[in-house]
Amino acid sequence: MTLEIVTETTTTTARQLSLVILCFFFFVCVCFEREKRKKMALKLNQITFPSIHNLPSQPRSVRSHRVLMASTLNSISTKEVQNLKKPYFPPQEVPVQVTHSMPPQKKEIFKSMENWAEDNLLTLLKPVEKCWQPQDFLPEPESDGFYEQVKELRERARELPDDYFVVLVGDMITEEALPTYQTMINTLDGGIRDETGASLTPWAIWTRAWTAEENRHGDLLNKYLYLSGRVDMKHIEKTIQYLIGSGMDPKTENNPYLGFIYTSFQERATFISHGNTARLAKEHGDMKLAQICGIIAADEKRHETAYTKIVEKLFEIDPDATILALADMMRKKISMPAHLMFDGQDDNLFENYSAVAQRIGVYTAKDYADILEFLVGRWKVEKLTGLSGEGRRAQDFVCGLPPRIRRLEERAQGRVKDASSTAPFSWVFGRELKL
Ligand SMILES: [Fe+2]
Ligand SMILES: [Fe+2]
Repeated sequence: MTLEIVTETTTTTARQLSLVILCFFFFVCVCFEREKRKKMALKLNQITFPSIHNLPSQPRSVRSHRVLMASTLNSISTKEVQNLKKPYFPPQEVPVQVTHSMPPQKKEIFKSMENWAEDNLLTLLKPVEKCWQPQDFLPEPESDGFYEQVKELRERARELPDDYFVVLVGDMITEEALPTYQTMINTLDGGIRDETGASLTPWAIWTRAWTAEENRHGDLLNKYLYLSGRVDMKHIEKTIQYLIGSGMDPKTENNPYLGFIYTSFQERATFISHGNTARLAKEHGDMKLAQICGIIAADEKRHETAYTKIVEKLFEIDPDATILALADMMRKKISMPAHLMFDGQDDNLFENYSAVAQRIGVYTAKDYADILEFLVGRWKVEKLTGLSGEGRRAQDFVCGLPPRIRRLEERAQGRVKDASSTAPFSWVFGRELKL
């Protein structure tokens, strides 16, 4: 009996001891693993984050240098995207984002602009009853002639080449990522954001109505492309879903100075781009599509007027901070809103789409320089006076930039001309197109 108790006690003690040893071993393993991960993260950060030191010199007066670190990798492979067991993660991710760079005291400037915004911005919005709607340019589903109208649309679309469609699809996808752009504006500081989703500040009213006008662009192009039968809608829809899931990285830092310079540039870029797809549709004999692209371009022009007016006013109220912001955006380069696009297959989709757009003359590096030159003239940047030393340096930089961009572009073109590369585009059923 006593022996049994002793044996049992010994066994229990041995078990407890093994359990303690096991726990200790597990603890050591966990610590080791944590340390390993820390080191790995540090290594990856070192690979990714030097870019923050390489960022062009920032205007000290308008930024607080709060840096938000997103994760470490720029993009993950298609294989990983398709691994459905993993939790959802955006396929394209931005590594470093500077946030809230506008000093809080500047908020007053935007507050003081509210009456101005009411008189100068809201008056540029068209009443809904006077606006065109996508249905005005599409076959009427309720009409007996619907099938005939669709047939005609498809016959006209047959005359357009694949590369035209790839560019039109890219433009449509850019428009369809509208939730991202509304988010971008609604994350601006300075009282710009729509605090409630139905706020009655002039800034919030503008942003909602602007979004509502923009929403028609994606709708119209999407429906046209669907009816044309020329494109792979499933892959296009996947690209839209991926893109909205990824967001964008405009490098505007929640800063309305940077944000409104970005939107001024972008509205002009889309005006040019839709204007060129209209011109090409006309050249290919599709007058209806030319009209569709043209009517969208007209909206973009009106939006460009609104955003450039805001920046013009900022130049008037706060010229130094505004010229520093313009120089900052130009040093960082204006990234296109859909630069994170992905179709589940092509890791270089945006570059490939941009190459085709450049080749067929829808949006080119020359357009980029032209837009900057236009904005410099529009805001009378050369004539600004009373700037600080830093402001004057920013002024010189910005004014000298368009010819520099053109020279670089000409050199790049000279090099590219010899290389004839191609890429398959899922949007046109995987057909190879010249880049
Ligand atoms: Fe648009
Ligand atoms: Fe626009």
